Amino acid sequence: MIKVAGSFLSIVALTVSASAFAQHAFNDADKAVEYRQKALSIMQNNFAVMGDMVKGDIEFDGTIFAERANDFAALTSIPWIGFSQEGAMPGNNTDALPAIWDNWEDFVERAEKLQQDAKALQQAAAAGEQGAIREAFMTAARNCKGCHDQYKD
Ligand code: HEC
Repeated sequence: MIKVAGSFLSIVALTVSASAFAQHAFNDADKAVEYRQKALSIMQNNFAVMGDMVKGDIEFDGTIFAERANDFAALTSIPWIGFSQEGAMPGNNTDALPAIWDNWEDFVERAEKLQQDAKALQQAAAAGEQGAIREAFMTAARNCKGCHDQYKD
Protein backbone atom coordinates (compact mmCIF):
# COMPACT_ATOMS: atom_id res chain seq x y z
CA MET A 1 0.00 0.00 0.00
CA ILE A 2 2.66 2.47 1.03
CA LYS A 3 4.60 1.71 -2.10
CA VAL A 4 1.55 2.28 -4.31
CA ALA A 5 0.72 5.53 -2.57
CA GLY A 6 4.34 6.63 -2.91
CA SER A 7 4.52 5.99 -6.63
CA PHE A 8 1.13 7.64 -7.14
CA LEU A 9 2.42 10.71 -5.37
CA SER A 10 5.56 10.81 -7.42
CA ILE A 11 3.53 10.54 -10.62
CA VAL A 12 1.38 13.43 -9.47
CA ALA A 13 4.50 15.41 -8.66
CA LEU A 14 5.97 14.64 -12.08
CA THR A 15 2.77 15.59 -13.87
CA VAL A 16 2.47 18.84 -11.99
CA SER A 17 6.06 19.85 -12.60
CA ALA A 18 5.89 18.79 -16.25
CA SER A 19 2.85 20.94 -16.95
CA ALA A 20 4.27 23.82 -14.93
CA PHE A 21 7.36 23.56 -17.09
CA ALA A 22 5.41 23.51 -20.34
CA GLN A 23 3.48 26.64 -19.45
CA HIS A 24 5.88 28.27 -17.03
CA ALA A 25 2.77 29.79 -15.51
CA PHE A 26 3.50 32.94 -17.47
CA ASN A 27 0.49 33.41 -19.67
CA ASP A 28 0.43 36.84 -18.18
CA ALA A 29 3.36 39.15 -19.02
CA ASP A 30 3.10 40.96 -15.69
CA LYS A 31 3.66 37.69 -13.86
CA ALA A 32 6.76 36.94 -15.90
CA VAL A 33 8.16 40.40 -15.16
CA GLU A 34 7.37 40.07 -11.46
CA TYR A 35 8.96 36.61 -11.34
CA ARG A 36 12.24 37.64 -12.96
CA GLN A 37 12.52 40.86 -10.94
CA LYS A 38 11.99 39.04 -7.66
CA ALA A 39 14.44 36.32 -8.64
CA LEU A 40 17.06 38.90 -9.64
CA SER A 41 16.44 40.74 -6.42
CA ILE A 42 17.01 37.68 -4.18
CA MET A 43 20.05 36.79 -6.27
CA GLN A 44 21.35 40.32 -5.68
CA ASN A 45 20.77 40.05 -1.90
CA ASN A 46 23.17 37.13 -1.77
CA PHE A 47 25.67 38.76 -4.10
CA ALA A 48 25.68 42.02 -2.13
CA VAL A 49 26.66 40.34 1.14
CA MET A 50 29.59 38.71 -0.60
CA GLY A 51 30.48 42.05 -2.16
CA ASP A 52 30.56 43.72 1.24
CA MET A 53 32.98 41.04 2.45
CA VAL A 54 35.17 41.22 -0.65
CA LYS A 55 35.39 45.02 -0.31
CA GLY A 56 36.06 44.75 3.42
CA ASP A 57 32.93 46.74 4.37
CA ILE A 58 32.03 43.88 6.68
CA GLU A 59 34.35 41.33 8.19
CA PHE A 60 35.06 38.31 6.02
CA ASP A 61 33.41 35.18 7.40
CA GLY A 62 34.24 32.09 5.36
CA THR A 63 31.21 30.11 6.54
CA ILE A 64 28.69 32.83 5.75
CA PHE A 65 30.43 33.57 2.48
CA ALA A 66 30.23 29.92 1.42
CA GLU A 67 26.50 29.82 2.31
CA ARG A 68 25.81 32.96 0.29
CA ALA A 69 27.86 31.54 -2.60
CA ASN A 70 25.79 28.34 -2.55
CA ASP A 71 22.51 30.24 -2.62
CA PHE A 72 23.82 32.62 -5.25
CA ALA A 73 24.84 29.69 -7.45
CA ALA A 74 21.39 28.13 -7.08
CA LEU A 75 19.65 31.42 -7.83
CA THR A 76 21.59 32.30 -10.97
CA SER A 77 19.57 29.77 -12.96
CA ILE A 78 16.18 31.13 -11.87
CA PRO A 79 15.45 34.58 -13.40
CA TRP A 80 15.91 33.85 -17.09
CA ILE A 81 12.74 31.92 -17.79
CA GLY A 82 10.90 35.11 -16.92
CA PHE A 83 12.37 36.66 -20.06
CA SER A 84 11.51 33.84 -22.41
CA GLN A 85 7.77 34.10 -22.87
CA GLU A 86 6.04 35.77 -25.77
CA GLY A 87 4.09 38.56 -24.27
CA ALA A 88 6.60 39.15 -21.50
CA MET A 89 8.03 42.04 -23.45
CA PRO A 90 8.86 45.24 -21.67
CA GLY A 91 6.17 47.58 -20.54
CA ASN A 92 6.08 50.35 -17.97
CA ASN A 93 6.82 47.96 -15.15
CA THR A 94 10.18 46.70 -16.37
CA ASP A 95 13.71 47.94 -17.04
CA ALA A 96 14.32 45.20 -19.61
CA LEU A 97 15.24 46.67 -23.00
CA PRO A 98 13.78 45.36 -26.28
CA ALA A 99 17.38 44.64 -27.37
CA ILE A 100 17.13 41.44 -25.31
CA TRP A 101 14.73 39.89 -27.78
CA ASP A 102 16.69 41.19 -30.78
CA ASN A 103 19.86 39.56 -29.40
CA TRP A 104 18.37 36.58 -27.63
CA GLU A 105 21.36 34.26 -28.12
CA ASP A 106 23.77 36.76 -26.65
CA PHE A 107 21.43 37.34 -23.72
CA VAL A 108 21.15 33.61 -23.02
CA GLU A 109 24.93 33.22 -23.31
CA ARG A 110 25.46 35.91 -20.70
CA ALA A 111 22.91 34.24 -18.43
CA GLU A 112 24.70 30.91 -18.83
CA LYS A 113 28.06 32.53 -18.23
CA LEU A 114 26.74 33.94 -14.96
CA GLN A 115 25.83 30.43 -13.84
CA GLN A 116 29.37 29.27 -14.63
CA ASP A 117 30.83 32.28 -12.82
CA ALA A 118 28.66 31.45 -9.82
CA LYS A 119 29.86 27.83 -9.78
CA ALA A 120 33.47 29.00 -9.86
CA LEU A 121 32.76 31.37 -6.99
CA GLN A 122 31.03 28.60 -5.05
CA GLN A 123 34.08 26.35 -5.51
CA ALA A 124 36.51 29.07 -4.47
CA ALA A 125 34.37 29.79 -1.40
CA ALA A 126 34.24 26.10 -0.47
CA ALA A 127 38.04 25.94 -0.75
CA GLY A 128 38.31 29.11 1.34
CA GLU A 129 41.02 30.66 -0.80
CA GLN A 130 40.58 34.41 -0.57
CA GLY A 131 42.53 35.36 -3.69
CA ALA A 132 40.51 32.98 -5.84
CA ILE A 133 37.29 34.11 -4.14
CA ARG A 134 38.00 37.72 -4.94
CA GLU A 135 38.85 36.94 -8.56
CA ALA A 136 35.73 34.80 -9.05
CA PHE A 137 33.56 37.47 -7.44
CA MET A 138 34.94 40.18 -9.73
CA THR A 139 34.38 37.98 -12.81
CA ALA A 140 30.72 37.53 -11.87
CA ALA A 141 30.32 41.24 -11.07
CA ARG A 142 31.68 42.17 -14.50
CA ASN A 143 29.06 39.92 -16.05
CA CYS A 144 26.24 41.65 -14.12
CA LYS A 145 27.44 45.01 -15.33
CA GLY A 146 28.06 43.88 -18.90
CA CYS A 147 24.54 42.55 -19.26
CA HIS A 148 22.95 45.55 -17.55
CA ASP A 149 24.86 47.94 -19.82
CA GLN A 150 23.43 46.19 -22.86
CA TYR A 151 19.98 45.14 -21.79
CA LYS A 152 18.79 47.03 -18.72
CA ASP A 153 17.42 50.57 -18.73
C1 HEC B 1 21.92 38.07 -18.87
C2 HEC B 1 21.76 39.43 -18.46
C3 HEC B 1 21.87 39.81 -17.01
C4 HEC B 1 22.84 39.40 -16.12
C5 HEC B 1 24.03 38.50 -16.36
C6 HEC B 1 22.50 40.03 -14.87
N1 HEC B 1 21.38 40.79 -14.99
FE1 HEC B 1 20.46 41.84 -13.54
N2 HEC B 1 18.99 42.38 -14.81
C7 HEC B 1 18.96 42.10 -16.15
C8 HEC B 1 17.80 42.73 -16.77
C9 HEC B 1 17.41 42.67 -18.21
C10 HEC B 1 17.11 43.38 -15.72
C11 HEC B 1 15.78 44.16 -15.81
C12 HEC B 1 14.66 43.19 -15.46
C13 HEC B 1 13.30 43.84 -15.48
O1 HEC B 1 13.13 44.98 -14.96
O2 HEC B 1 12.37 43.20 -16.01
C14 HEC B 1 17.90 43.14 -14.52
C15 HEC B 1 17.54 43.61 -13.27
C16 HEC B 1 18.25 43.40 -12.13
C17 HEC B 1 17.84 43.85 -10.81
C18 HEC B 1 16.57 44.63 -10.48
C19 HEC B 1 15.45 43.65 -10.14
C20 HEC B 1 14.17 44.38 -9.74
O3 HEC B 1 13.78 44.27 -8.57
O4 HEC B 1 13.59 45.05 -10.61
C21 HEC B 1 18.81 43.47 -9.93
C22 HEC B 1 18.86 43.70 -8.43
C23 HEC B 1 19.83 42.77 -10.71
N3 HEC B 1 19.45 42.73 -12.03
C24 HEC B 1 20.98 42.24 -10.17
C25 HEC B 1 21.93 41.53 -10.90
C26 HEC B 1 23.16 41.02 -10.34
C27 HEC B 1 23.62 41.22 -8.92
C28 HEC B 1 23.78 40.35 -11.34
C29 HEC B 1 25.10 39.61 -11.31
C30 HEC B 1 25.38 38.79 -10.17
C31 HEC B 1 22.94 40.45 -12.52
N4 HEC B 1 21.83 41.19 -12.21
C32 HEC B 1 23.25 39.87 -13.72
C33 HEC B 1 19.88 41.34 -16.83
C34 HEC B 1 20.96 40.70 -16.29
